[in-house]
Amino acid sequence: MSSLQEAIACPVCQKTLTTAPQECNQCHNYFRNEVAKIPSCLIDLTPEIVKGEAAVNSPPLRTELFRLPIISFLYERILPPIWAMGLRNVGGIDIEFQQCLEFFGNNSGVVADISCGTGIIARQLALLQRCEQIIALDYSEAMLGQLQQQMQLNGIPPSQITIIRGDVGALPLAANSLNAVYSGAAMHCWPDAEQGMRNIYRVLRSGGKLFATTFLQPLPSIVFRFFTQDELRQLAIAAGFHPDYVQVETRGIYGTLKCVK
Ligand SMILES: C[S@@+](CC[C@H](N)C(=O)[O-])C[C@H]1O[C@@H](n2cnc3c(N)ncnc32)[C@H](O)[C@@H]1O
Repeated sequence: MSSLQEAIACPVCQKTLTTAPQECNQCHNYFRNEVAKIPSCLIDLTPEIVKGEAAVNSPPLRTELFRLPIISFLYERILPPIWAMGLRNVGGIDIEFQQCLEFFGNNSGVVADISCGTGIIARQLALLQRCEQIIALDYSEAMLGQLQQQMQLNGIPPSQITIIRGDVGALPLAANSLNAVYSGAAMHCWPDAEQGMRNIYRVLRSGGKLFATTFLQPLPSIVFRFFTQDELRQLAIAAGFHPDYVQVETRGIYGTLKCVK
């Protein structure tokens, strides 16, 4: 059983491929059949699809926005130059990638880009070829479709990035299974940041690292939920990270959270 198969878990029955029963009456064997498709296509492990039921609560606008094909199409075609002028880190996503690599160090066995969007960082990691496994997970099928197209353009084979449609609030990953998580410019889009952070803490191995970025107040929380520097720190501590291993850096309205489990 590969470390990848041990990392992916059903969001409903919570089992990995190793532990899932041949006949599962919780997820009706959907999980086992879906994981068998890796690496040929993206797999959908959102709880509502796995259960075959409509979601009890529809996701908020800050999540749903990214499912619009027009947003996913324009995302990477418009934003990177704006980020590079200083909206994210000065120097943009390339600087963020360098900072993330520096923080991860050699701790790069199984790495997940959670809320990967079009997978800018997952693709850069794949091109570096230093991770054992890369998982790219997002709730938006439209963003993941763009990731697949970009992988083809970049010559990255499907075996290098496992693409999962999933919800950070019901993360389809096993406890203590990941060496590192990157989550870029995403926490402000999650329906429940507290739950998302608890899930990330759960799936990291001891010594595993989280590098997350997000936008901050005084941006107004009308559609997105913007945090203060202190809220970001408290979110990580409440999720389980020890205060000594939680570091928050801010630059204007952009915050970077670095945590070690
Ligand atoms: C601003 S984009 C960031 C994309 C990418 N990480 C980047 O750095 O450019 C935020 C992403 O969060 C995703 N997202 C929102 N809610 C989510 C959820 N509940 N679970 C997983 N991903 C979610 C959106 O689909 C979107 O792709």
